[in-house]
Amino acid sequence: VITLQSSLGYSIQIAHGLLSDPATLLPLLAPYGKRFAVICDHNVAPLYGQPLADSVRSAGWQAALFSFPAGEKHKTRETKQDLENRFLQEKLGSDLCVLAIGGGVTTDLAGYVAATYCRGVPLILLPTTLMAMVDASLGGKNGVNVPQGKNLIGTRYPPKQVLIDPATLQTLREQELKEGIVEMIKHGLIANPAYFDFLETYASNILAREENMVTTAIVESCRIKEKIVAEETLEMGKRHLLNLGHTIGHALEHITGYALSHGEAVALGLLVEGQMAQLLGHLEVDALRRIRALIAKYSLPLQLPRPVDFSAIFASMLYDKKTVSGQPRFVMLGSIGSCLPCSGNYCMPVEEALVAKAFDALHGN
Ligand SMILES: NC(=O)c1ccc[n+]([C@@H]2O[C@H](COP(=O)([O-])OP(=O)(O)OC[C@H]3O[C@@H](n4cnc5c(N)ncnc54)[C@H](O)[C@@H]3O)[C@@H](O)[C@H]2O)c1
Ligand SMILES: [Zn+2]
Repeated sequence: VITLQSSLGYSIQIAHGLLSDPATLLPLLAPYGKRFAVICDHNVAPLYGQPLADSVRSAGWQAALFSFPAGEKHKTRETKQDLENRFLQEKLGSDLCVLAIGGGVTTDLAGYVAATYCRGVPLILLPTTLMAMVDASLGGKNGVNVPQGKNLIGTRYPPKQVLIDPATLQTLREQELKEGIVEMIKHGLIANPAYFDFLETYASNILAREENMVTTAIVESCRIKEKIVAEETLEMGKRHLLNLGHTIGHALEHITGYALSHGEAVALGLLVEGQMAQLLGHLEVDALRRIRALIAKYSLPLQLPRPVDFSAIFASMLYDKKTVSGQPRFVMLGSIGSCLPCSGNYCMPVEEALVAKAFDALHGN
């Protein structure tokens, strides 16, 4: 078992086969009481939710399973309320511990439920998608979507533990695996050139979900996200680093009506924002070439599926939280593994014409 400590108080335990090894798993749950509510979506219920509840019961503790329909469109206040009503029906009280097992939708939703049920009950996250392992379950934020936007309602409520079993990735669809890989590439770009090299060298091993390579990558990504989370509490500017590729990425998701997945949109965002850094003379041509090649190695998109009007992209970016007085700001790569500081933080204003020029790269050179 590899253990990392978060500045937010929880520990992260990473071990291949953890979920199917009660001798390791149950002692990690023991401090959190004898009544557990397992929350998962309908896909994860038969794969990991039910087995987890069975394993908890084998220790002589209570475990009730609460599942909800899978998918981002169910990450809502309605689903939260439904789960709460079912908890109340079961007369669950504040001696409860929530076990959230699944992807980021589940960790976000169950995190929010745990944060407010009986004014907060202990929460343990067991991420089963790569996205949830390296991103959604770290940092202590949760939330739900409303028609006005994503994650607009939620809290900051760190879990007690994050328990990662990379063996669960074996059942994940390749498309979902790649959603997490994009965040891993982002982690290498913002913080660690050796990790970027690793993702280059072992791309086929990682795509094949080889135990050692995947676990090594998860551990490094967790380290990087946790380091930025820790620095964010001291120094506000650092948190923007996690936004690399996301300024363009979010705009692309939005204007294509979410036809592009988050990962695909961020992969394209990394290219455009990398191109911007290169045009501004911050990033070497060869570094940009390596970013392109790495995205291609993981069969992530290098071009838009259909042309997109740049003015719509630009208009959408104005809603980005980094935008100030109508000027979008970007995390600026200086090299593979580092970004450029800019007046106390890590986002830089860029002229519209330059953003447009960088964006042209997506329309086939
Ligand atoms: N709180 C944060 O800081 C944070 C950060 C990043 C992302 N997120 C959130 O995470 C969500 C996306 O997470 P996601 O990509 O994990 O989506 P998801 O939870 O919808 O999971 C993707 C799909 O994979 C299925 N699945 C999960 N684990 C599986 C497994 N091991 N085998 C087979 N199928 C499995 C799920 O049922 C689902 O259909 C978004 O809502 C996003 O806002 C939150
Ligand atoms: Zn992301």
